[in-house]
Amino acid sequence: MEIFADTASLDELKELLSWGIISGCTTNPKICAKEGVEFKTRMKDILHLVNGPVSIEVTTNDYDLMLKEAKEYSSWGKNAVVKVPMNANGLKAVKILKEMGIKTNVTACMSTKQAILPALAGADYVSIFWARIEDMGYNAQAVAEETVKVFKDSNVKSKIILGSFRQVSHINRAMLTGTHILTIPPQIIKEMVTNPKTTETIQEFLDNWESFKKGQKNH
Ligand code: E4P
Repeated sequence: MEIFADTASLDELKELLSWGIISGCTTNPKICAKEGVEFKTRMKDILHLVNGPVSIEVTTNDYDLMLKEAKEYSSWGKNAVVKVPMNANGLKAVKILKEMGIKTNVTACMSTKQAILPALAGADYVSIFWARIEDMGYNAQAVAEETVKVFKDSNVKSKIILGSFRQVSHINRAMLTGTHILTIPPQIIKEMVTNPKTTETIQEFLDNWESFKKGQKNH
């Protein structure tokens, strides 16, 4: 299983990359708007920084405009993956972009029956949105497990990305599904690092070491 960072923040990405745990990045128009910076420049910076796939989402549902944006994004870096919406135009775009050698990630899938379609069309990645599935009252873990099984049984090559995480408990459950990738906001990745018992244990060891050193000085 791999972890991608779900962010367009350069500072956050630099920090997480320095930990050696991130192998890709995902963005979307909402995440990019939050940064409030020039889109092309920021995406190029991220493509340069991340030594792995970076998903950049089209800003339209129009098929021709999707292809136009896709061609532009793919010229920004070899690791660019064009994120397209899960709809009929998105599927059409996946097919044609694959023929052009452009990688795709189909975003905002909410069910297994949706997710299998881009996989059959040849998408490199299919993104399933955990918290938004739960918002609708469904069990995201069951949807993810079912999709993992159907992808295996159908022998499709697409990698499943689980995203839309809002809390650490989502990650605990998502890791059990057999998904290929989790894309996680930096703040939640940071929460995964810490555990009060770990902090307490490490402090106990340090305190014992300090006492031992003090005792040695006094002899
Ligand atoms: C994934 O690629 C998306 O960027 C992201 O996880 C969207 O999730 P959210 O808008 O529900 O937070």
